[in-house]
Amino acid sequence: MKKNIKIAPSILSADFANLEKEISILNNSEADYVHVDVMDGHFVNNLTFGPPVIEKIRKYSKKPFDVHLMIKSVDQYLESYSKAGADIITIHPETTNNLDNAISKIKSLGKRVGVSLNPDVSIDKVLPVINKIDLLLIMSVYPGFAGQKFIPDVLKKVKILSEKINNENLNVEIEIDGGINIDTAKLAKKAGANVLVAGTAVYSENKVLENIKLLKNC
Ligand code: DX5
Ligand code: ZN
Repeated sequence: MKKNIKIAPSILSADFANLEKEISILNNSEADYVHVDVMDGHFVNNLTFGPPVIEKIRKYSKKPFDVHLMIKSVDQYLESYSKAGADIITIHPETTNNLDNAISKIKSLGKRVGVSLNPDVSIDKVLPVINKIDLLLIMSVYPGFAGQKFIPDVLKKVKILSEKINNENLNVEIEIDGGINIDTAKLAKKAGANVLVAGTAVYSENKVLENIKLLKNC
């Protein structure tokens, strides 16, 4: 059966001076989510935006906001990102004092919850909570910057986790993030990913709608 692939364009590669326009373009696209990369300059070596900017741009989006938090001490910020309009809140296990509590907190805020694994983080970090989450975000680059090269080794994690999710009939999406293009998208899809994040591949050559369509049908 052909698995329905979702596309989550990362606005990290969009034009930050024209975010309203960039968000509106995605409204008319085949994108399923808007992937919003929040970076704090500590957990990763780059700094993007926080709740006030997300709140402003959320108003223009007809697509759910898939907010990827790459920030230290994440527990104290969950409420702000929820209020700003995140629909999915994804966190890294290293950034919370207690992953279980953080997951419950996100759910209590009425949001879908994701857990993200960096390339060097083992699946053991997520296995104890896999039946409590909605989305598993497998990083296929070390987070921080768009335009990096895909790390094929992480596909092993995608395969193991997707088999587990299927065998146990869990309702968990597997999203992959970093270095996704037509070729790596095919590999990720084959390994079991069903949501593809793409920054560079979507925003290249001013052909956002076409690029999204190509990824969706790859
Ligand atoms: C990496 C971010 C990604 C990134 C993807 O730190 O989490 O979402 O923007 O960009 P590309 O698709 O260019 O690798
Ligand atoms: Zn991301």
